[in-house]
Amino acid sequence: MRFFRFLLLNIVALLFATSNLSAQDGGMWIPSLVKQLNIDDMQDMGLKLTADDLYSINNSSIKDAIVHFGGGCTAEMISNQGLMLTNHHCGYGKIQAHSTLENNYLKDGFWAMNKNEELSNPGLTATFIIKIEDVTNEILLGVNPEMTEVDRGTQISKNIVILNSIIKIEKYQNLKVKPFFNGNQYFAIITETYKDVRLVGAPPSMIGKFGSDTDNWIWPRHTGDFSLFRIYASTENRPAEYSEENIPYKPKHFLPISLDGVQEGDFTMVYGFPGRTQEYLPSVAIKQIKDVINPARIEIRIKALKIVDKEMRADEEINIQYASKYAGIANYWKKWIGENKGLEVSGAISKREKYEVELMENINSNPISKAKYGNLLSDFDKYYSEFEKYNLAHNYYSEIVYRNVEILKVSSVLYRLVNKYEEAGDKADEYFTTMKPEIDNYLKGFYKNYNSDVDKKVFTTLIQEYVEGIDKSFLPEYLVEEIDDYNNNYTKLSDKVFAKSALVNDTDMFMLLSKSPSSAIAKIKKDPAYKIGVSMIKAYNEKVKPKYSEINAEIKKLQRIYMAAQIEMMPNKKFYPDANSTLRITWGKVDGYEPKDGVYYYPKTYLDGIMEKYIPGDYEFHVPEKLRKIYEEKDFGIYAENGKIPVGFIGTNHTTGGNSGSPALDAHGNLIGLNFDRVWEGTMSDYNYDAKICRNIMVDVKYILFIIDKYGDAKYLLDEMKLVRPKTTLIVD
Ligand code: ARG
Ligand code: GLU
Repeated sequence: MRFFRFLLLNIVALLFATSNLSAQDGGMWIPSLVKQLNIDDMQDMGLKLTADDLYSINNSSIKDAIVHFGGGCTAEMISNQGLMLTNHHCGYGKIQAHSTLENNYLKDGFWAMNKNEELSNPGLTATFIIKIEDVTNEILLGVNPEMTEVDRGTQISKNIVILNSIIKIEKYQNLKVKPFFNGNQYFAIITETYKDVRLVGAPPSMIGKFGSDTDNWIWPRHTGDFSLFRIYASTENRPAEYSEENIPYKPKHFLPISLDGVQEGDFTMVYGFPGRTQEYLPSVAIKQIKDVINPARIEIRIKALKIVDKEMRADEEINIQYASKYAGIANYWKKWIGENKGLEVSGAISKREKYEVELMENINSNPISKAKYGNLLSDFDKYYSEFEKYNLAHNYYSEIVYRNVEILKVSSVLYRLVNKYEEAGDKADEYFTTMKPEIDNYLKGFYKNYNSDVDKKVFTTLIQEYVEGIDKSFLPEYLVEEIDDYNNNYTKLSDKVFAKSALVNDTDMFMLLSKSPSSAIAKIKKDPAYKIGVSMIKAYNEKVKPKYSEINAEIKKLQRIYMAAQIEMMPNKKFYPDANSTLRITWGKVDGYEPKDGVYYYPKTYLDGIMEKYIPGDYEFHVPEKLRKIYEEKDFGIYAENGKIPVGFIGTNHTTGGNSGSPALDAHGNLIGLNFDRVWEGTMSDYNYDAKICRNIMVDVKYILFIIDKYGDAKYLLDEMKLVRPKTTLIVD
């Protein structure tokens, strides 16, 4: 395989490389390749471990302590009894699910005082990585550059089926094949997924989410963003569904915790599951994100957020109902603002353009590479410019129909039901009856956190945004007619919709669904909210989606070739694949940064900073009385450093969404912190890592221990952890 020759060349080349490229360029590296690619760089930076200590398939290694938490976050094992640490915001949905007005664990925190008090979380999973294996040769067998994309896809799917029958796994394991480098390389990943995961502890939100959305993506930071869970296993220590008979899982490895603290310049690494990055895009793609897509998404979300925020502040029940949804929407809204700022101040686009000029010179200097890659960038230009209006409409659609207006989301669920019902012919009633429990279940969950007054306001604002924001030719005729009928008065339109629709309250909705299948379906189809939702879905499916998918497929293909071209033309450069929710290692050092002229941020924060930010009664910056008292009395125990409690720190580790909850480790592999965020301007690292301004944000593990012990009075949890002092080499235990 050509690709592999180049990879080999890279490996040879790096043996001679002296400069520390990776620390400068960021990178999220595949643990199974660290031995070949990175270990020297890491040891040069200060790592005291071997590659086998980080990743081994024969012996236990640090990888065995790393968990993919619920598929979206990272967590880690911190005891030999399955105790698991992750972020508060990763456990948030589960903590919320256990919360009521009477037992408000979001507000007051939760500490199980023994294993019987732990709370089960149906649906929550914890996945370990058993083995990562390069299977590129097997997966690309029979694939050639002349093939159409469809044929290529078919061949790859066939090869995956064959591979699945060849690789032997245990009954309790899973195998997944994943593309890397835009489909230039493939890895098989064997996993074990545990399903009995119980909530052990969480600080109150005034600690776990301190600073909330004002401080989100911001340094200096003072959030105690952690929560504790425990994995349970069958009596054979294997994955099992929830059962009272299950026992605490005994991991192959768990992380010792350092009590020695971190200092500027210390080596750090972050081991976890970064979700998605796109580091190798052409400049036109970044430009489209920055100038077209991000501004639109930011605009839509701020409109929704303003409405929901006001309602949440006025009503405690709405506050609980919308807390998790609001946090999710606000999170990326703010991220995109920072991303655009960072792309701007770092001159990301002109840098990328310069890179492209050099790359093209290189490509064109040789007739063979010129023939293969000479048109790549002009093809990108052409496709991205065609793509723009479809891409924009696609984003409007997913933001408005699938995220921010809740009855539209319900419409889409009902639309699927109606469609399948109608397709089922004489089996229709049977289909309806089998589907009903599932739909009921979905709706029950939905209405628990639904308030129609809130949604009505969002609907009014965002329907207008939709009509005014996308290309006129993409609009649903039905919606346009309705709006004409109401003389462009969106409030009147939503008055009617919300007065007459059954979707906006659970009683009407469940009554409707309890009718005979045919009359239920007939009623759904006449429902005014449903009709608007469906008109939007159909218009998208007919007018946007086909072209969107078609161009997107071309762009994907170009990107695969462009990726191969970059690797081929730069044999001395080490490339790391974009994040794809697989296990990665990144490393760097504890380091401050200069966000703008004359401003320097130190890399550490302390409890004193929490007191500086304290605003009594504020929903973001209130400090619980007990914490204030501990502060006053300086009851800091063994957690203080020079009389101060450390809270957060930043480093040059290259992380992204999905790395939340990832352990920050010291040079010996001890836990020193918990990754939970990045600095605002640095969030552009998803497209353009720049060591000058990209920093990840971690909670200091000493703050976590301090809160568990002194605030939560759950010191017994510390007894099962292994506390160490690597700098002073004194084992505390
Ligand atoms: N920005 C962090 C991440 O992307 C934290 C998000 C949760 N916190 C919040 N205030 N919404 O997940
Ligand atoms: N908070 C993010 C997460 O949930 C991590 C921050 C980032 O995007 O780097 O994964």
